[in-house]
Amino acid sequence: MGQESLTITDNRTGAAYELPITDGTIRGMDLRQIKVDDNDFGLMSYDPAYINTASCRSQITYINGDVGILRYRGYPIAQLAEQGSYLEIAYLVLYGELPTQEQLDTWTYDIAHHSIVPDNFRRFFNGFRYDAHPMAMLISSVAALSTFYPEARSIRDQDSVELQTRRLIAKIPTLAAWAYRHSMGFPYAYPDNDLSYSGNFLNMMFKMTELKYEPNPILERALDILFILHLDHEQNCSTSTMRMVGSSLPDPYVAVSAAAAALYGPLHGGANEAVLRMLTEVGDVKNIPEFMDSVRRGERKLMGFGHRVYKNYDPRARIVKDIAYQVFEVTGRNPMLDIALELERIALQEEYFVERKLYPNVDFYSGIIYQALGLPPNMFTVMFAIPRTVGWLTQWREMLNDPEQRIARPRQIFDGADTRNHISISDRS
Ligand code: CMC
Repeated sequence: MGQESLTITDNRTGAAYELPITDGTIRGMDLRQIKVDDNDFGLMSYDPAYINTASCRSQITYINGDVGILRYRGYPIAQLAEQGSYLEIAYLVLYGELPTQEQLDTWTYDIAHHSIVPDNFRRFFNGFRYDAHPMAMLISSVAALSTFYPEARSIRDQDSVELQTRRLIAKIPTLAAWAYRHSMGFPYAYPDNDLSYSGNFLNMMFKMTELKYEPNPILERALDILFILHLDHEQNCSTSTMRMVGSSLPDPYVAVSAAAAALYGPLHGGANEAVLRMLTEVGDVKNIPEFMDSVRRGERKLMGFGHRVYKNYDPRARIVKDIAYQVFEVTGRNPMLDIALELERIALQEEYFVERKLYPNVDFYSGIIYQALGLPPNMFTVMFAIPRTVGWLTQWREMLNDPEQRIARPRQIFDGADTRNHISISDRS
């Protein structure tokens, strides 16, 4: 074997093994041959939270977190955000190439014409309590779509996969908007096929008595860019959940619902909501020193800072910050911005944050934009889930077509009790 290999000496036995290195990785299964004797199960790697484990090959999204690079299908995120429209970039992520005009027209038509949800959903939403969290309503209602489309279980039928993909991308904004309307006590608004994906979402959120809702073009474009920035982010917690759940081959509705549940937590997509709650709690620039002291003492986190992969400025955060200023031209400046800017200024120069490489992530500024758009904080994670549905579906489809993928099944180190006999309850102390 040439230089692309790793030689391991097992000091327990003195045996040497040569493992091939491919694409900067060794195969976990190659460790299994390393045994102390024939009865030994073989060596495993221990990697809680999969910090250093590649679980798949992928051609969708490239991230180099050390230098802050993010590309979809090879295109830098800043170019896509500046020049693309949401459905165009969604098509790119899903199919690997930018669409021709004809492909984009057909794609846009298809998405618009699948956006309505079965009327039973009115009753579903009305069944939720008035104060139900919109993300929990979204997770439940996406799973409920599974009951309407039983053919979706034919995950080897390519026509069905295409149809369910379109349905999910089209219906997610409708369910998201209806979750919001339910929590506000407003009547549900129907999709308007004349509008763009983002324009129609604003329509379903905010249309009241007017006959035709006309989205503000600056806000519509800002939302389009935010959606582009959140489309995919390789093997994060929710995407890995999509692949893990999808590996047992259920229909994509329940798999997307599971992925959305993973997104809900405050360490993942729930961070944008947590950021706004944090900024509200700080309340004023004068309270920042005291707040930062508690962060330095490790009593709390600076939400919207830090990332498992980015050890540099998250390239999405830079773009989101720019959009914030454009949105405030229309809505008026959100006073939370001053607190956010000051927190960022301090964090970028303070030792605690610098030595831990904690930079603003995508969620740090998105919340103050959503608030300026008139959304309550509990809708922020929903805003993340809408575009990320495209990423989840793309990753799911890639997994289905990957001959190396099987049902996901990690191993464990068992360190519980050894075998022991049952004791009747009267004899237990
Ligand atoms: N504020 C203060 N300290 C922090 C923060 C923070 N936001 N994030 C990490 N640290 C500290 C952490 O306490 C640890 O310090 P020490 O070495 O003294 O124990 C060190 O930095 C390393 O942190 P870690 O928890 O080992 O890092 P991780 O890679 O496991 O976690 C993270 C990544 C994103 C969960 C974490 O940075 C965090 O909780 N950030 C706040 C939540 C947040 O903004 N999440 C959104 C992520 S971006 C959107 C998405 O893709 O979901």
